[in-house]
Amino acid sequence: MKTRRIVAAILSVLMMGACFTGCGSTEDTPAGTDGTASTDGTSATNEGGGDADDGKLKVGFAQIGQESGWRDAETASIQFHAGQNVDTIDFKFADAQQKQENQIKAIKSFIDMGVDVIGLAPVVETGWDAVFTEAKDAGIPIILVDRMADVPEDLYATFIGSDFIEEGKNAADEMARLLNNSGKIVELEGTVGASSANDRKKGFDDQIAAEYPDIEILASQTGDFTRAKGKEVMESFLKTYGSEIKGVYAHNDDMMLGAIEAIKEAGLKPGEDIKTVSCDGVKAIFEAMVAGEANVTIECNPLLGPIFFETAQKLKDGETVEKWVKPEESIFRQETAAEDIKDRVY
Ligand code: AHR
Repeated sequence: MKTRRIVAAILSVLMMGACFTGCGSTEDTPAGTDGTASTDGTSATNEGGGDADDGKLKVGFAQIGQESGWRDAETASIQFHAGQNVDTIDFKFADAQQKQENQIKAIKSFIDMGVDVIGLAPVVETGWDAVFTEAKDAGIPIILVDRMADVPEDLYATFIGSDFIEEGKNAADEMARLLNNSGKIVELEGTVGASSANDRKKGFDDQIAAEYPDIEILASQTGDFTRAKGKEVMESFLKTYGSEIKGVYAHNDDMMLGAIEAIKEAGLKPGEDIKTVSCDGVKAIFEAMVAGEANVTIECNPLLGPIFFETAQKLKDGETVEKWVKPEESIFRQETAAEDIKDRVY
């Protein structure tokens, strides 16, 4: 985990040039700004140290944790932007260590601090009504970043993030193409209750059921969006189904990277004997594609720092913002991975 974070920090310096739409403009990264976070999700940094009257945009962000390379890239993007703008942004960051209760504590502490805007990547979809209502009563808008929350629309200002159902549907079409529309597969799900896991599953399973009757999902189980758990669950799938498995769909690349290790240890060839489709588009999966060990990744853009702060400023200024802001994203395949990897920034 530590090594991955150091690598992410170094990579993030290279992310200069990436932007929300993948268009290659200026900022978007870390480089050691902020990042310090409390262990219980209640407080954190940027340490612009502003007071109530300094005119700065005061933002608190409650992050999920550090479960994946994608999450590290998103945190880096947000912290880098804050660090680049300390003269105008007073930023507080909390790492909730995968716990909803810590995110709730962080939100309450941001409300007590009197921030202008709260950002939240909700670890799970449900259970937010009470604390969102507290924020609303305090006049503090909430921006949902990356994952959705299942709350009435008036409890949040906007959602900045991907269409996960569409990603799941695209993943199903890619899997069908790789299998010539027929074969048995397994599915590695993300964190139970997370919108990205719920919707990537729904999009995928519904599309398979509707369009590909000769593809059978043998088993589907959570790997919690982590590489270690992805490997563990794939090992158990392989023990049960062995070479019956012709494809694996993982809700993120990290779980797929773990699954690839499991497939190799079982004496099979990932990318050949067992086709792979996963979501995110992190650099490590491009390396696996270049090595012929992975087939497809469905991109999900984590570089949300600039659009997040731009939206927060608009809300502070009383401007209207769109209810759903969707990043531009692509599908990347093994065939072009050697070229594509040159442009990857996370
Ligand atoms: O919500 C987005 C998902 O969360 C990413 O796909 C995954 O890598 C992360 O942990």
